[in-house]
Amino acid sequence: MLAGTRLFALILAFLHYVIGQANVNTLPACWENVDYVRTVDVSRTYLQETVQLHIKNVDEKPNDQYYFALPEENFETVALFSAKLKKADVFLHSAILSDQTFFVNGKPIKAGIVKLPSPIEPGKDTFIVIDLVYKSSAQPFPGHLKLGETQRLLLSTAKYPTSAYPIESYTLKFIGSSSFEEVKKVGGDEASCSNVNDEFICGTYSSLEVHREEDSISVLFDHNLPLPRVSTLNRDIWASHWASTLQFEEYYELINDAAPLKEGFSRADYMKGQHAFKPSGHLTALEMALPPQSEDHYFTDLVGAVSTFKFLQGHLFLKPRYPIFGDWKYNFTIGWTNALSQFLRVESGLDDTFLLSVPALNGPDNTFYDSVNLSIYLPEGAEVVDVWCPLPTDSTKITTKHSFFDLGQGHTKVAIELKNLVDTVSDSEVFVRYKFSNSSLYKKPFSIATAIFVASMAYFFLKHTTFLIEQ
Ligand SMILES: *[C@@H]1O[C@H](CO)[C@@H](O)[C@H](O)[C@H]1NC(C)=O
Ligand SMILES: *[C@@H]1O[C@H](CO)[C@@H](O)[C@H](O)[C@H]1NC(C)=O
Repeated sequence: MLAGTRLFALILAFLHYVIGQANVNTLPACWENVDYVRTVDVSRTYLQETVQLHIKNVDEKPNDQYYFALPEENFETVALFSAKLKKADVFLHSAILSDQTFFVNGKPIKAGIVKLPSPIEPGKDTFIVIDLVYKSSAQPFPGHLKLGETQRLLLSTAKYPTSAYPIESYTLKFIGSSSFEEVKKVGGDEASCSNVNDEFICGTYSSLEVHREEDSISVLFDHNLPLPRVSTLNRDIWASHWASTLQFEEYYELINDAAPLKEGFSRADYMKGQHAFKPSGHLTALEMALPPQSEDHYFTDLVGAVSTFKFLQGHLFLKPRYPIFGDWKYNFTIGWTNALSQFLRVESGLDDTFLLSVPALNGPDNTFYDSVNLSIYLPEGAEVVDVWCPLPTDSTKITTKHSFFDLGQGHTKVAIELKNLVDTVSDSEVFVRYKFSNSSLYKKPFSIATAIFVASMAYFFLKHTTFLIEQ
């Protein structure tokens, strides 16, 4: 946990350093890409891209910063950007400079910066690997499907990379589907891609100048799976010192981006063809990985409580009321409770300072999130000292919110707005350090003790039913 906070502090320090010095809107031409291999993995709902770079310092002085130009087409939806050294497999300091626009050959670009562990001497080279995850722009092709037809997706992407530095040799690869084919434009280039083993390889192209003209490539591939996307997630986490619990409640607005049905949905055809058991673009179940030892699970949707869920080995399996076909939406709420002690630590030597660490997400696998509102509610009277979120945040606000039993100013609320998340960040933890003095610890149970027991039962009952009414 502390290693995480230290790492975060380092990244922050690095960002300050970069932002402080980088008013260099024109990037120095200090590198050459000797080899640039871009691999696009289409196996998931979002795209995972790996760029293997062999770079050479062509400057007259040693350099340790490499600017990686991010394509305009997906800059707005980048979920993850990281860099590592190829041989050592260690992560390098890197960050997207979202507020800055650079000019290369007179054209504006956005960039990420990578800091090498030591400067590279003039004429010397090194190997780095960039990992990029972003929202997929692949569309079902053709638009609609009959029940039981195999879904194919069409992806259009830049044929050549945007780069701040010239490229000696460039290869583009697609992986993650059993079938790829290029869709040629009328009057377009000769086919330049071929299937080699499980890869669809385009190129190799040589001697690309810096930031060349846009040219796109379209590939068609089988992807007979649902494409779940959470357009909105409101994730509320309530910490109660009094009850020693951490309660989670999550409201999802989910959409399946798969191909819509050509002829509407017929339950009879669906049952007759046993389509529930065949691979296809529709979504019949969701699996949520919850923190260990969770209890009191519930699942509700617009209509009310949904009974078709199971909790097995730390996973909550949800079966929505109906299969979610392409373009269909499903809004639902789930909730559960954990022991507070699993997530809360007392700061050593200071018995009124606490460190709460909560997982960033607990949602389904293989899912892209457009926007997430994470709200952490601390006990009344808690004073927030620090908030650390390892993911790029849109905003962090600390306010108070009144609930049923609050005496004075209400619960302390930490609200974090996030965009473009993917399920794989669920391991990340968000930290909140707060002060909560013993007097405020005892104030609340004391006032509650004066109320009758039935009232507090009613409170819990209310808490479990208000969201039903709200919906
Ligand atoms: C889910 O909620 C959104 C936003 O409130 C709404 O536009 C949409 O119609 C809802 N979807 C369903 C299936 O009720
Ligand atoms: C998320 O939080 C922001 C700021 O608190 C608010 O403006 C926005 O409406 C919230 N989004 C949803 C979907 O609740």
